[in-house]
Amino acid sequence: MSAYIVHQSEIQITQIVDHIQQGHLLAIPTETVYGLAANAADDEAIKKIYQLKNRPTNHPLIVHIAPPIEGSGIELAWERELALWSNDVPAQAIVLAKAFWPGPLTIILKKAKHVSDLITGGQSTVGIRVPRHPWTIQLLQAFGGGLVAPSANRFGRISPTTAMHVFDEFNDFVQAQQLMILDGGDCEVGIESTILDLSRLEQQGPVILRPGMISEQAICKVLGVSTLQANDNSIRHSGGMLGHYAPQTPLITKDISQLTPADFSEKKMAVVSFIEQQELKKQWPDADVDWYQIPRDVNVVAKELYRLLRDLDNKNYQKIIFDQLPLAPEWAGLHDRLTRSVYGSGIN
Ligand code: TXA
Ligand code: MG
Repeated sequence: MSAYIVHQSEIQITQIVDHIQQGHLLAIPTETVYGLAANAADDEAIKKIYQLKNRPTNHPLIVHIAPPIEGSGIELAWERELALWSNDVPAQAIVLAKAFWPGPLTIILKKAKHVSDLITGGQSTVGIRVPRHPWTIQLLQAFGGGLVAPSANRFGRISPTTAMHVFDEFNDFVQAQQLMILDGGDCEVGIESTILDLSRLEQQGPVILRPGMISEQAICKVLGVSTLQANDNSIRHSGGMLGHYAPQTPLITKDISQLTPADFSEKKMAVVSFIEQQELKKQWPDADVDWYQIPRDVNVVAKELYRLLRDLDNKNYQKIIFDQLPLAPEWAGLHDRLTRSVYGSGIN
């Protein structure tokens, strides 16, 4: 294969399936972020993911599977799909699959015996998700197996939402033809899937391990419960580390309507705010600042957050100040990502 960033019109699905079956890695578009994919049944291929990402091998990977063909008996079809990965599929998993898949939800189940320790990080559970990108769905259907895919970024860094971001992360491997990137356009959701743990239902009910754009409220509604228990952080997952999704430029959050002259101590700063640029420029005419405005729309901010952080990181600002996000529950996923970005920022 000569081109290593490919569009759908340039390649047959069968060629991509061959590539995977030969144990090679592939960057795939999903609706959340791009994933770095390998055959879930091929330990040698999975090892390459850890090497490329520089990720510790005790951090588990999500298995991506195809949706069953729509039609009657869909519950049974979901049950069959999930039974390939878990011997203990609770009724809640089927209800959630019907409501949210394909889509940005990962469900953690007790793992079936054959699921490799390299996928589960040695834990007794496995994360499953059905992504919504049409090309990736086609690929998963043609391939027939599962693809493990972490976000296609180096460990701890900002997740990619375009094919170019993936190239920027791994250009040496792409040029050495060790990684093929499927360019499926911009990711429509923009932050990683919500992760819901259903593996300890008897002890604690369903628990959100990582918030995302499928909110706790939406999950409660579908499950017919009023709240979920909070995560006690005893389950290891890399998105659960404090410093993650991080730019190299120092990043802080602050209510931009409360800026003071002391906030402008650095030269060449970026301020990202919900407030009109014109208004801020008027208020701070002498500040050495590039102002960026974001809308108060949770879907737009989610779609743009990682691209914006990457772009700002490439501009060599001395500091980025990001406006405080609204407290409404649907912003929980963004609060989580931004807090971790702040914590991990400023480290080269
Ligand atoms: O939207 C997404 O979920 C993206 C796209 C590519 O699908 N994937 C993604 O993968 O975000 P990754 O590896 O960057 O983050 C997956 C998170 C990690 O924090 C991992 O520890 C956690 O899922 N995870 C995976 N399997 C798990 C398990 N069995 N138990 C607990 N956490 C698990
Ligand atoms: Mg990740």
